[in-house]
Amino acid sequence: MMLRSVTGVCCLRRSIIGVRYVSSLVHNKAYIDGGWVEAQSGNVFPVNNPANGEVLSHVADMCESDTQTAIDAAHNAFVTWKTTTAKERSVLLRRWYELVETHKTDLAHLMTSECGKPLAEAHGEVSYGSSFLEFYAEEARRIYGEVVPSPHPSKEILFIRQPIGVASLITPWNFPIAMITRKAGAALASGCTCVVKPAEDTPLSALAIAHLAHQAGIPPGVFNVVTSSRANTPDVGKLMCTSPKVAGVSFTGSTAVGKLLYEWCSVGVKRIGLELGGNAVFIVFNSANVTAAVDGLINAKFRNAGQTCISANRILVQSGIYEEFLSSLKAAMMDRLVVGDGAKEGVNQGPLINDNQFRRVERVVERVVSESVSCGAELVLGGHGHELGGLFYSPTILTHVNKHMPCFNEEIFGPIVAIKKFETEDEAITEANCTNHGLASYFYSQDVSQTWRVGRQLEAGMVGINEGLISCCEGAFGGIKQSGLGREGSRHGIDDYTYIKYLCFGGIN
Ligand code: SIN
Repeated sequence: MMLRSVTGVCCLRRSIIGVRYVSSLVHNKAYIDGGWVEAQSGNVFPVNNPANGEVLSHVADMCESDTQTAIDAAHNAFVTWKTTTAKERSVLLRRWYELVETHKTDLAHLMTSECGKPLAEAHGEVSYGSSFLEFYAEEARRIYGEVVPSPHPSKEILFIRQPIGVASLITPWNFPIAMITRKAGAALASGCTCVVKPAEDTPLSALAIAHLAHQAGIPPGVFNVVTSSRANTPDVGKLMCTSPKVAGVSFTGSTAVGKLLYEWCSVGVKRIGLELGGNAVFIVFNSANVTAAVDGLINAKFRNAGQTCISANRILVQSGIYEEFLSSLKAAMMDRLVVGDGAKEGVNQGPLINDNQFRRVERVVERVVSESVSCGAELVLGGHGHELGGLFYSPTILTHVNKHMPCFNEEIFGPIVAIKKFETEDEAITEANCTNHGLASYFYSQDVSQTWRVGRQLEAGMVGINEGLISCCEGAFGGIKQSGLGREGSRHGIDDYTYIKYLCFGGIN
């Protein structure tokens, strides 16, 4: 039996010390079929502030059968949602966008408290997140079909796009709002209903977004949020991929988990969109503008303290510009990067999300330091936990690293710059493409012919050319190789949630 609160609003304000936001946005129950629902077991799990370890809230720990309730609700709601007009869906998405914009400051504070992202970045993410709702409110009205010249005089050939059905959306902690709106905006615009499973570390932002969806008038069952602890997540995730009532899955997260979901989806031959891990190369050629390249790297590396899947991971610098680039980068990092609690003014490097992530970063750096004598690697800056302690890690530069080190062959997900010198363009391209991943890549060059040549050759779904910030709702976000399938954002984001139906009209005389 599901328990619903009358308003769904919990009195959490007092338990969230020093964090400024409106309590009506803070929920600790799942959002299913338009109501706030406890776990059938009554179980909850804690949500911590990574900046100080403080417990912010205890949130409903939903299990498989709770999730089934959400899938059932989405499945029932699909019957009517799919018949709404594009304009009706557009109006609702637009209203949702406006409410997110109205509550921008509160959402940013809430996000900073549960994921550690500095406030200015959290504001940026809320705008980035709302932009997908605005974009897909517009795009809903442009999901066109095609009329194709027929080979037979008695037949007409038409293609129409139809919504696939219920979409399971499994989202990460590093962008607690934008990854939900990027998927849900496209799903709802297409006429799909959805069940969202946010990361265990950041359920509060997801529930706040659900609150605003409710206020916007998104009908019950169309948008559902199921929260669960790490322990319950595998069962919940498996059901979200295998339930016969689910038509498709969209996941943002690690390649390892993505492969598992792909396998589960194969049983029911489900549609799947995967935004997986990257290992982005950032190449600085001799002709680069050094100031621009340093700015670009600071943006591409230190957004969210390096915890984004399009973070620059492997930095390749051509020999003719190497010394100048390294000294400018070191000076810029020492001057501009301020580590601390993201809620504090001026801080731009927050904590890492949790102990696992902190240990992973430590391991990557230790490996380089331990091999420095044998292979000539050098620790130029940082290389240790920050003096603030806890989950804060000092911005670090490692040089003369090699491709056998984890800082080069794994996604670091932390504030570590690992640099390797190269001589020729061919060498850089070969090195850049020598990975199973192909999400983002970046390079700096003022040689126009080189920009085209290298842009064509890099094996990645996205390439930043003299640009370190490539994310926007208009861009087609996605990877190749083991970095994923499908595209999010842009008009192509609709593809995951629609199928093409071929209508053949015969008997035309
Ligand atoms: C991600 O890291 O998962 C997404 C980054 C972005 O959208 O910019």
